[in-house]
Amino acid sequence: MTIPTTALQTAAERFGTPLYVYDAAELDAALARVRSAFGTARVYYAMKANPNLTLLRRLNAAGVGFECVSSGELARAEAVGASGERILVNGPAKSEAEYLTGARLGATFIVDREEEVPLLPPHSRALVRVNPALAVSTHDHLATGAAGSKFGVTLAQAPRVLDALRDAGHTALGLHVHIGSAIRDAHDFTAAFGRLSEMREQTGPLAVLDAGGGWGLDADLHGIAREARAAASAFGAELWVEPGRYLVARAGTLLTRVVGTKRTGRNFCLVDAGMTELLRPMLYGAEHPVTPLWDGGEVETWDIAGPACESGDLLARDISMPQPTRGALVAIGEAGAYGAAMSGTYLTRSRPAEALYEPGREGGADWTVIRHRETPQDVWAAEI
Ligand SMILES: Cc1ncc(COP(=O)(O)O)c(C=O)c1O
Repeated sequence: MTIPTTALQTAAERFGTPLYVYDAAELDAALARVRSAFGTARVYYAMKANPNLTLLRRLNAAGVGFECVSSGELARAEAVGASGERILVNGPAKSEAEYLTGARLGATFIVDREEEVPLLPPHSRALVRVNPALAVSTHDHLATGAAGSKFGVTLAQAPRVLDALRDAGHTALGLHVHIGSAIRDAHDFTAAFGRLSEMREQTGPLAVLDAGGGWGLDADLHGIAREARAAASAFGAELWVEPGRYLVARAGTLLTRVVGTKRTGRNFCLVDAGMTELLRPMLYGAEHPVTPLWDGGEVETWDIAGPACESGDLLARDISMPQPTRGALVAIGEAGAYGAAMSGTYLTRSRPAEALYEPGREGGADWTVIRHRETPQDVWAAEI
Protein backbone atom coordinates (compact mmCIF):
# COMPACT_ATOMS: atom_id res chain seq x y z
CA MET A 1 0.00 0.00 0.00
CA THR A 2 1.66 3.17 -1.17
CA ILE A 3 -0.82 5.88 -0.08
CA PRO A 4 -0.11 7.44 3.36
CA THR A 5 -2.55 6.48 6.13
CA THR A 6 -3.60 10.08 6.77
CA ALA A 7 -4.57 10.44 3.08
CA LEU A 8 -6.58 7.20 3.26
CA GLN A 9 -8.41 8.49 6.33
CA THR A 10 -9.19 11.77 4.57
CA ALA A 11 -10.55 9.92 1.53
CA ALA A 12 -12.77 7.67 3.65
CA GLU A 13 -14.19 10.69 5.49
CA ARG A 14 -14.81 12.70 2.33
CA PHE A 15 -16.13 10.01 0.01
CA GLY A 16 -17.49 7.38 2.41
CA THR A 17 -16.85 3.65 2.51
CA PRO A 18 -16.59 1.12 0.99
CA LEU A 19 -14.24 3.04 -1.30
CA TYR A 20 -11.73 2.04 -3.94
CA VAL A 21 -8.68 4.30 -4.04
CA TYR A 22 -5.85 4.28 -6.57
CA ASP A 23 -2.37 5.72 -6.32
CA ALA A 24 -1.52 7.50 -9.59
CA ALA A 25 2.23 7.26 -8.90
CA GLU A 26 2.04 3.47 -8.54
CA LEU A 27 -0.01 3.20 -11.76
CA ASP A 28 2.74 5.06 -13.59
CA ALA A 29 5.46 3.06 -11.85
CA ALA A 30 3.88 -0.26 -12.86
CA LEU A 31 3.80 0.79 -16.51
CA ALA A 32 7.41 1.97 -16.25
CA ARG A 33 8.42 -1.44 -14.85
CA VAL A 34 6.67 -3.19 -17.73
CA ARG A 35 8.36 -0.96 -20.29
CA SER A 36 11.74 -1.34 -18.65
CA ALA A 37 11.43 -5.14 -18.85
CA PHE A 38 9.75 -5.49 -22.24
CA GLY A 39 11.49 -2.63 -24.05
CA THR A 40 9.90 -1.92 -27.41
CA ALA A 41 7.17 -4.58 -27.13
CA ARG A 42 3.68 -3.21 -27.79
CA VAL A 43 1.62 -3.09 -24.60
CA TYR A 44 -2.12 -3.80 -24.74
CA TYR A 45 -3.83 -3.33 -21.37
CA ALA A 46 -6.37 -6.10 -20.66
CA MET A 47 -9.05 -3.68 -19.53
CA LYS A 48 -11.11 -6.42 -17.85
CA ALA A 49 -8.76 -5.89 -14.89
CA ASN A 50 -10.09 -2.39 -14.32
CA PRO A 51 -12.03 -0.53 -16.99
CA ASN A 52 -12.43 2.82 -15.21
CA LEU A 53 -12.37 5.52 -17.90
CA THR A 54 -9.93 7.73 -16.00
CA LEU A 55 -7.42 4.88 -15.82
CA LEU A 56 -7.99 4.07 -19.50
CA ARG A 57 -7.45 7.71 -20.51
CA ARG A 58 -4.22 7.75 -18.58
CA LEU A 59 -2.97 4.58 -20.26
CA ASN A 60 -4.15 5.77 -23.68
CA ALA A 61 -2.18 9.00 -23.22
CA ALA A 62 0.86 6.90 -22.33
CA GLY A 63 0.61 5.09 -25.66
CA VAL A 64 -0.84 1.83 -24.34
CA GLY A 65 -3.37 -0.11 -26.44
CA PHE A 66 -6.34 -2.15 -25.17
CA GLU A 67 -7.35 -5.79 -25.21
CA CYS A 68 -11.17 -5.87 -25.30
CA VAL A 69 -13.46 -8.85 -24.80
CA SER A 70 -16.95 -7.39 -25.11
CA SER A 71 -18.95 -4.70 -26.91
CA GLY A 72 -18.87 -2.69 -23.71
CA GLU A 73 -15.08 -2.82 -23.52
CA LEU A 74 -14.84 -1.83 -27.18
CA ALA A 75 -17.12 1.12 -26.45
CA ARG A 76 -14.81 2.15 -23.61
CA ALA A 77 -11.74 1.94 -25.88
CA GLU A 78 -13.52 4.10 -28.45
CA ALA A 79 -14.68 6.54 -25.75
CA VAL A 80 -11.10 7.23 -24.66
CA GLY A 81 -9.98 7.76 -28.26
CA ALA A 82 -8.30 4.43 -29.08
CA SER A 83 -8.68 2.91 -32.53
CA GLY A 84 -6.98 0.86 -35.22
CA GLU A 85 -3.78 -0.88 -34.19
CA ARG A 86 -4.34 0.15 -30.57
CA ILE A 87 -7.25 -2.29 -30.10
CA LEU A 88 -7.38 -6.08 -29.86
CA VAL A 89 -10.72 -7.91 -29.98
CA ASN A 90 -10.50 -11.13 -28.03
CA GLY A 91 -12.85 -13.71 -26.59
CA PRO A 92 -13.93 -17.31 -27.12
CA ALA A 93 -17.46 -16.47 -28.32
CA LYS A 94 -17.49 -13.10 -30.04
CA SER A 95 -20.85 -11.62 -30.99
CA GLU A 96 -21.80 -10.23 -34.38
CA ALA A 97 -21.75 -6.75 -32.81
CA GLU A 98 -18.17 -7.28 -31.62
CA TYR A 99 -17.00 -8.26 -35.12
CA LEU A 100 -18.75 -5.23 -36.64
CA THR A 101 -17.42 -2.76 -34.07
CA GLY A 102 -13.93 -4.24 -34.27
CA ALA A 103 -14.00 -3.83 -38.05
CA ARG A 104 -15.30 -0.26 -37.82
CA LEU A 105 -12.52 0.64 -35.40
CA GLY A 106 -9.88 -1.15 -37.50
CA ALA A 107 -8.98 -3.46 -34.61
CA THR A 108 -6.97 -6.69 -34.71
CA PHE A 109 -8.91 -9.88 -33.96
CA ILE A 110 -7.62 -12.75 -31.88
CA VAL A 111 -9.06 -15.91 -33.40
CA ASP A 112 -9.92 -18.45 -30.73
CA ARG A 113 -11.17 -21.37 -32.86
CA GLU A 114 -10.89 -22.65 -36.41
CA GLU A 115 -14.65 -22.17 -36.97
CA GLU A 116 -14.25 -18.44 -36.37
CA VAL A 117 -12.32 -17.77 -39.61
CA PRO A 118 -15.41 -17.43 -41.86
CA LEU A 119 -17.04 -15.12 -39.29
CA LEU A 120 -14.33 -12.45 -39.46
CA PRO A 121 -15.08 -9.22 -41.32
CA PRO A 122 -13.38 -9.11 -44.76
CA HIS A 123 -9.66 -8.29 -44.84
CA SER A 124 -9.19 -8.49 -41.07
CA ARG A 125 -5.87 -8.49 -39.27
CA ALA A 126 -5.76 -11.51 -36.99
CA LEU A 127 -3.71 -13.48 -34.50
CA VAL A 128 -4.39 -17.11 -33.68
CA ARG A 129 -4.69 -17.94 -29.97
CA VAL A 130 -2.82 -21.14 -29.19
CA ASN A 131 -3.52 -23.32 -26.17
CA PRO A 132 -0.16 -24.85 -25.17
CA ALA A 133 -1.86 -27.58 -23.11
CA LEU A 134 0.06 -26.97 -19.90
CA ALA A 135 -0.81 -27.20 -16.23
CA VAL A 136 0.00 -23.80 -14.70
CA SER A 137 0.60 -22.59 -11.15
CA THR A 138 -2.63 -20.76 -10.39
CA HIS A 139 -6.22 -21.42 -9.32
CA ASP A 140 -8.11 -23.66 -11.78
CA HIS A 141 -10.53 -20.86 -12.64
CA LEU A 142 -7.61 -18.63 -13.63
CA ALA A 143 -5.79 -21.19 -15.79
CA THR A 144 -6.49 -20.70 -19.49
CA GLY A 145 -3.69 -22.69 -21.11
CA ALA A 146 -4.55 -26.15 -19.80
CA ALA A 147 -5.51 -28.86 -22.28
CA GLY A 148 -9.10 -28.94 -21.03
CA SER A 149 -9.59 -25.18 -21.07
CA LYS A 150 -12.03 -23.60 -23.53
CA PHE A 151 -9.45 -21.14 -24.88
CA GLY A 152 -7.46 -21.21 -28.10
CA VAL A 153 -6.71 -23.79 -30.74
CA THR A 154 -4.42 -26.77 -30.24
CA LEU A 155 -0.76 -26.70 -31.24
CA ALA A 156 -1.65 -29.09 -34.06
CA GLN A 157 -4.48 -26.89 -35.37
CA ALA A 158 -2.63 -23.54 -35.27
CA PRO A 159 -0.70 -23.74 -38.59
CA ARG A 160 -3.89 -24.79 -40.36
CA VAL A 161 -5.81 -21.82 -38.91
CA LEU A 162 -3.06 -19.42 -40.04
CA ASP A 163 -3.37 -20.87 -43.56
CA ALA A 164 -7.16 -20.65 -43.45
CA LEU A 165 -6.91 -16.97 -42.52
CA ARG A 166 -4.60 -16.29 -45.48
CA ASP A 167 -6.79 -18.30 -47.85
CA ALA A 168 -9.80 -16.22 -46.75
CA GLY A 169 -7.99 -12.96 -47.60
CA HIS A 170 -7.14 -11.91 -44.04
CA THR A 171 -3.75 -10.82 -42.75
CA ALA A 172 -2.52 -13.61 -40.48
CA LEU A 173 -0.22 -11.59 -38.23
CA GLY A 174 0.90 -14.42 -35.99
CA LEU A 175 0.23 -16.27 -32.75
CA HIS A 176 -1.19 -15.37 -29.36
CA VAL A 177 -0.82 -17.20 -26.06
CA HIS A 178 -2.21 -16.40 -22.61
CA ILE A 179 -1.91 -19.21 -20.10
CA GLY A 180 -3.79 -17.72 -17.15
CA SER A 181 -3.82 -15.05 -14.49
CA ALA A 182 -1.89 -14.51 -11.24
CA ILE A 183 0.65 -17.15 -12.26
CA ARG A 184 3.09 -17.87 -9.46
CA ASP A 185 5.87 -19.80 -11.22
CA ALA A 186 7.69 -18.02 -14.07
CA HIS A 187 8.72 -21.41 -15.47
CA ASP A 188 5.13 -21.76 -16.71
CA PHE A 189 5.80 -18.93 -19.16
CA THR A 190 9.08 -20.50 -20.25
CA ALA A 191 7.26 -23.75 -20.97
CA ALA A 192 4.42 -22.05 -22.86
CA PHE A 193 6.67 -19.84 -24.98
CA GLY A 194 8.89 -22.87 -25.63
CA ARG A 195 5.94 -24.86 -27.00
CA LEU A 196 5.09 -22.01 -29.35
CA SER A 197 8.68 -21.63 -30.57
CA GLU A 198 8.69 -25.30 -31.51
CA MET A 199 6.00 -24.50 -34.08
CA ARG A 200 8.33 -22.31 -36.15
CA GLU A 201 8.99 -25.07 -38.69
CA GLN A 202 5.30 -25.50 -39.45
CA THR A 203 4.33 -21.81 -39.39
CA GLY A 204 7.36 -20.17 -41.01
CA PRO A 205 8.23 -16.58 -40.03
CA LEU A 206 5.46 -14.46 -38.50
CA ALA A 207 4.99 -10.73 -38.00
CA VAL A 208 3.71 -10.83 -34.38
CA LEU A 209 3.92 -12.96 -31.27
CA ASP A 210 1.48 -11.84 -28.57
CA ALA A 211 2.68 -13.29 -25.26
CA GLY A 212 -0.45 -12.33 -23.26
CA GLY A 213 -0.36 -11.30 -19.60
CA GLY A 214 -0.93 -13.21 -16.38
CA TRP A 215 2.20 -12.12 -14.53
CA GLY A 216 2.09 -12.39 -10.76
CA LEU A 217 2.77 -9.16 -8.88
CA ASP A 218 6.14 -10.39 -7.66
CA ALA A 219 7.05 -11.96 -10.99
CA ASP A 220 10.52 -11.57 -12.45
CA LEU A 221 9.37 -9.42 -15.36
CA HIS A 222 12.83 -9.24 -16.88
CA GLY A 223 13.02 -13.03 -16.87
CA ILE A 224 9.57 -13.41 -18.47
CA ALA A 225 10.46 -10.72 -21.02
CA ARG A 226 13.69 -12.53 -21.92
CA GLU A 227 11.78 -15.74 -22.62
CA ALA A 228 9.05 -13.92 -24.56
CA ARG A 229 11.61 -12.09 -26.69
CA ALA A 230 13.39 -15.38 -27.43
CA ALA A 231 10.11 -16.90 -28.61
CA ALA A 232 9.28 -13.85 -30.74
CA SER A 233 12.70 -13.87 -32.34
CA ALA A 234 12.31 -17.57 -33.21
CA PHE A 235 9.57 -16.39 -35.58
CA GLY A 236 11.31 -13.13 -36.53
CA ALA A 237 8.25 -11.53 -34.94
CA GLU A 238 7.50 -8.29 -33.11
CA LEU A 239 6.54 -8.92 -29.45
CA TRP A 240 3.19 -7.79 -28.04
CA VAL A 241 2.04 -8.23 -24.43
CA GLU A 242 -1.33 -7.93 -22.64
CA PRO A 243 -0.89 -7.26 -18.94
CA GLY A 244 -4.01 -6.55 -16.89
CA ARG A 245 -3.49 -7.19 -13.21
CA TYR A 246 0.18 -6.20 -13.18
CA LEU A 247 -0.58 -2.65 -14.36
CA VAL A 248 -3.27 -1.80 -11.82
CA ALA A 249 -3.42 -4.24 -8.88
CA ARG A 250 -0.87 -2.66 -6.54
CA ALA A 251 -2.16 0.85 -7.13
CA GLY A 252 -5.59 -0.05 -5.79
CA THR A 253 -6.83 -0.35 -2.20
CA LEU A 254 -10.31 -1.10 -0.94
CA LEU A 255 -11.13 0.94 2.15
CA THR A 256 -13.79 -0.48 4.42
CA ARG A 257 -15.02 0.46 7.90
CA VAL A 258 -15.46 -1.82 10.86
CA VAL A 259 -19.16 -2.31 11.66
CA GLY A 260 -18.52 -4.39 14.74
CA THR A 261 -17.10 -7.60 16.09
CA LYS A 262 -18.41 -11.01 17.04
CA ARG A 263 -16.78 -13.84 18.93
CA THR A 264 -18.25 -17.26 18.34
CA GLY A 265 -16.23 -20.24 17.11
CA ARG A 266 -13.93 -17.66 15.56
CA ASN A 267 -13.26 -13.96 15.95
CA PHE A 268 -15.09 -12.02 13.27
CA CYS A 269 -14.34 -8.43 12.35
CA LEU A 270 -17.46 -7.31 10.45
CA VAL A 271 -16.87 -4.62 7.85
CA ASP A 272 -18.99 -2.65 5.38
CA ALA A 273 -17.45 -4.28 2.25
CA GLY A 274 -17.70 -7.88 1.17
CA MET A 275 -18.19 -10.15 -1.81
CA THR A 276 -20.23 -7.54 -3.69
CA GLU A 277 -17.30 -5.11 -3.59
CA LEU A 278 -14.37 -7.58 -3.80
CA LEU A 279 -15.32 -10.99 -5.17
CA ARG A 280 -11.84 -12.46 -5.64
CA PRO A 281 -11.48 -14.10 -2.18
CA MET A 282 -14.83 -15.87 -2.61
CA LEU A 283 -14.41 -16.62 -6.32
CA TYR A 284 -10.97 -18.13 -6.25
CA GLY A 285 -9.59 -17.98 -2.77
CA ALA A 286 -7.50 -14.89 -3.53
CA GLU A 287 -5.54 -13.53 -0.59
CA HIS A 288 -5.24 -9.76 -0.30
CA PRO A 289 -2.99 -8.00 2.19
CA VAL A 290 -5.06 -6.55 5.04
CA THR A 291 -3.87 -3.50 6.97
CA PRO A 292 -5.82 -2.27 10.02
CA LEU A 293 -5.52 1.52 10.19
CA TRP A 294 -5.55 1.68 13.99
CA ASP A 295 -3.14 1.02 16.79
CA GLY A 296 -4.12 -1.06 19.71
CA GLY A 297 -3.22 -3.45 22.40
CA GLU A 298 -3.34 -7.18 22.30
CA VAL A 299 -3.08 -8.76 18.87
CA GLU A 300 -5.49 -11.60 18.08
CA THR A 301 -6.50 -13.56 14.99
CA TRP A 302 -9.55 -12.29 13.11
CA ASP A 303 -11.59 -13.19 10.05
CA ILE A 304 -12.71 -10.15 8.03
CA ALA A 305 -16.35 -10.72 7.09
CA GLY A 306 -18.72 -8.70 4.92
CA PRO A 307 -22.40 -7.80 5.35
CA ALA A 308 -23.92 -10.23 2.81
CA CYS A 309 -26.15 -13.09 3.90
CA GLU A 310 -23.74 -15.62 2.42
CA SER A 311 -21.35 -17.80 4.42
CA GLY A 312 -18.68 -17.31 1.79
CA ASP A 313 -18.75 -13.55 2.23
CA LEU A 314 -15.30 -13.30 3.80
CA LEU A 315 -12.58 -10.95 2.62
CA ALA A 316 -9.78 -12.60 4.58
CA ARG A 317 -9.14 -15.28 7.19
CA ASP A 318 -6.67 -15.47 10.07
CA ILE A 319 -5.53 -11.85 10.12
CA SER A 320 -3.43 -10.87 13.14
CA MET A 321 -4.49 -7.45 14.35
CA PRO A 322 -5.40 -5.50 17.48
CA GLN A 323 -9.02 -5.35 18.73
CA PRO A 324 -11.13 -3.59 16.06
CA THR A 325 -13.45 -0.81 17.11
CA ARG A 326 -16.60 0.28 15.31
CA GLY A 327 -15.81 2.90 12.65
CA ALA A 328 -12.10 2.05 12.35
CA LEU A 329 -10.73 1.61 8.84
CA VAL A 330 -9.35 -1.52 7.21
CA ALA A 331 -7.31 -1.26 4.00
CA ILE A 332 -7.45 -4.24 1.66
CA GLY A 333 -4.42 -4.03 -0.61
CA GLU A 334 -3.60 -5.17 -4.14
CA ALA A 335 -7.23 -4.55 -5.00
CA GLY A 336 -6.82 -2.45 -8.15
CA ALA A 337 -7.31 -5.40 -10.51
CA TYR A 338 -10.52 -7.44 -10.75
CA GLY A 339 -11.79 -5.55 -7.68
CA ALA A 340 -14.08 -2.70 -8.72
CA ALA A 341 -14.31 -4.39 -12.13
CA MET A 342 -16.01 -7.43 -10.60
CA SER A 343 -18.09 -5.56 -8.05
CA GLY A 344 -21.80 -6.20 -8.29
CA THR A 345 -25.18 -5.09 -7.10
CA TYR A 346 -26.40 -8.35 -5.53
CA LEU A 347 -28.64 -7.52 -2.55
CA THR A 348 -29.28 -4.13 -4.21
CA ARG A 349 -25.97 -2.96 -2.87
CA SER A 350 -24.68 0.14 -4.59
CA ARG A 351 -21.28 -0.21 -6.18
CA PRO A 352 -18.65 1.83 -4.32
CA ALA A 353 -17.11 5.14 -5.29
CA GLU A 354 -13.56 5.22 -6.67
CA ALA A 355 -10.97 7.95 -6.12
CA LEU A 356 -7.53 8.68 -7.55
CA TYR A 357 -4.71 9.92 -5.31
CA GLU A 358 -2.39 12.30 -7.09
CA PRO A 359 -0.72 14.67 -4.61
CA GLY A 360 1.07 17.69 -6.03
CA ARG A 361 -1.04 17.71 -9.17
CA GLU A 362 -0.78 21.19 -10.67
CA GLY A 363 -3.57 23.36 -9.27
CA GLY A 364 -5.45 20.26 -8.11
CA ALA A 365 -6.53 18.54 -4.96
CA ASP A 366 -4.82 15.34 -3.83
CA TRP A 367 -7.98 13.32 -4.44
CA THR A 368 -10.24 13.12 -7.51
CA VAL A 369 -13.43 11.09 -7.56
CA ILE A 370 -13.25 8.91 -10.68
CA ARG A 371 -16.51 7.05 -10.11
CA HIS A 372 -19.45 8.21 -8.07
CA ARG A 373 -20.99 5.90 -5.52
CA GLU A 374 -24.12 4.37 -7.01
CA THR A 375 -27.49 5.06 -5.48
CA PRO A 376 -30.23 2.40 -5.15
CA GLN A 377 -31.98 4.25 -8.01
CA ASP A 378 -28.87 3.74 -10.21
CA VAL A 379 -29.01 0.05 -9.40
CA TRP A 380 -32.62 -0.39 -10.49
CA ALA A 381 -32.55 2.23 -13.28
CA ALA A 382 -33.01 -0.31 -16.10
CA GLU A 383 -35.96 -2.05 -14.46
CA ILE A 384 -39.57 -1.48 -15.49
C1 LIG B 1 -6.36 -12.99 -23.26
C2 LIG B 1 -6.00 -12.30 -22.01
N1 LIG B 1 -4.97 -11.46 -22.02
C3 LIG B 1 -4.58 -10.81 -20.90
C4 LIG B 1 -5.24 -11.01 -19.69
C5 LIG B 1 -4.76 -10.30 -18.48
O1 LIG B 1 -4.36 -11.17 -17.48
P1 LIG B 1 -3.72 -10.57 -16.15
O2 LIG B 1 -4.67 -9.58 -15.63
O3 LIG B 1 -3.53 -11.72 -15.26
O4 LIG B 1 -2.40 -9.93 -16.57
C6 LIG B 1 -6.31 -11.90 -19.64
C7 LIG B 1 -7.02 -12.13 -18.36
O5 LIG B 1 -7.89 -12.90 -18.21
C8 LIG B 1 -6.72 -12.56 -20.82
O6 LIG B 1 -7.74 -13.39 -20.83
